[in-house]
Amino acid sequence: MPHVRLFSGEPLPLEMHKVRIVQKLDLVPIERRLQAITEAGNNTFLLKNRDIYLDMLTDSGVNAMSDRQLAAMMESDDSYAGSSTFTKLEDKVREIFGKTHFLPVHQGRAAENILARVFVRPGTMVPMNYHFTTTKAHIVLNGGSIEEIPVPEALQVTSAFPFKGNLDTARLEALIRQHGAERIAFVRIETGTNLIGGQPHSLENLRQVRAVCDRHGLMIVFDASLLADNLYFIKTREEACRTRSIREITRAVADLCDVIYFSARKLGCARGGGICTSDTNAYLKMRELVTLYEGFLTYGGMSIREIEAIAVGLEETMDENMISQGPQFIEYMVRELDRQGVPVVTPAGGLGCHLDALRFLPHVPQTEYPAGALASALYLVSGVRGMERGTVSEQRDEHGRETLANMELLRLAVPRRVFTLSQLKYAIDRIVWLHRHRDLVGGLRFTEEPKLLRFFFGKLAATSPWQDRIVQSFRQDLGDSL
Ligand code: F0G
Repeated sequence: MPHVRLFSGEPLPLEMHKVRIVQKLDLVPIERRLQAITEAGNNTFLLKNRDIYLDMLTDSGVNAMSDRQLAAMMESDDSYAGSSTFTKLEDKVREIFGKTHFLPVHQGRAAENILARVFVRPGTMVPMNYHFTTTKAHIVLNGGSIEEIPVPEALQVTSAFPFKGNLDTARLEALIRQHGAERIAFVRIETGTNLIGGQPHSLENLRQVRAVCDRHGLMIVFDASLLADNLYFIKTREEACRTRSIREITRAVADLCDVIYFSARKLGCARGGGICTSDTNAYLKMRELVTLYEGFLTYGGMSIREIEAIAVGLEETMDENMISQGPQFIEYMVRELDRQGVPVVTPAGGLGCHLDALRFLPHVPQTEYPAGALASALYLVSGVRGMERGTVSEQRDEHGRETLANMELLRLAVPRRVFTLSQLKYAIDRIVWLHRHRDLVGGLRFTEEPKLLRFFFGKLAATSPWQDRIVQSFRQDLGDSL
């Protein structure tokens, strides 16, 4: 967004786009919301859209598309093999990332499946700045393990450290010395680190990781799903990059990585994914699996229309005005909540605003899922759907014991160019109300608990009738307001 100063001095995230297609929303009364969240087993994944006012579950596949993306979708070249639409995307990926080979896949986790099948062997490990749920699941499924070695600031919920997504290179060295480079499948860097609050890494840190990997002959696999936000933070927070263009920064990042993969549900504001590399051996190994699991090499399971949209979306990602909208809206939300005493992850990251459930609900023990309870309570008081990113999102260990998460967060994703500032103000108001009434919120326990990725389908019940008490207080304070 351009630098605009208001007369009052108040910082304001100013949209550099206008809305030309809209979707009608409903806000159902709190009594209906109680019914809906109960039916959904207090799992916001299981809510129906008709009961939701602001869908802040994710930024995945729900970002607003541009007029140019929609126009490109109309002229897509639909053919099983040899589509010229695919060539457009391939050329765009080559141009932006500077890699020779491009493989299409239907979404990010499909890339993870292929990468894990090709490079992870039983007993190997994958050091990384932080895991993502599907990434970890694929590595573990192939007999590998993950080693999270972020910098110490990463897990400090409140901090002024600008690059909490950095990997601790001293710990990487120590890990290699302890286990030997041959036991390491690859080093994974996740840009815009999702599960710790959309926190960025710096270009300088990536350079240092590269130097360690070069010394030990290790490959860097870069998850670029949240690259747009991370590029913005490198540009605005990393002194040495202030005068570099987004395109130059992207290229500098890409040049340090051996394999880059992404979910185009995030990067490029469409739906799909891809893997690129200049390593022909790696490419050939992965290529076989693309045709086996995804589809032919010139569509990879994606709709050809989406492939057109990704090509345009990637180009639009090189525009600083475009990529700054998300982080600046998130910063507004984080600043306002922080000012009003609500515990949030700081500094503001990309992807969304993250509430710290451990401090929001200190009276709810981690075994009763404070982030899950907060997600349920916030939906109840606002119709805003967030996503639990805490212990519910973890998996029990091999003995059936809970793996308590490092952080208990409620993620309120801010999909790119979708919400208005008044909608954010509404969400902020209801979060503040809930914070003032936090003592009313109780815990949850599982009533249905799937073994794998339980957060998607699991159902939970309130440990006491705390939700009824919230409805009563809401009515007392807010009368007949929706
Ligand atoms: N890597 C990261 C960093 C992600 O955030 C995601 C998805 C994936 C990989 C997998 O990509 O969904 O296209 O298969 N994150 C979504 C989210 C689901 O809500 O944060 P996918």
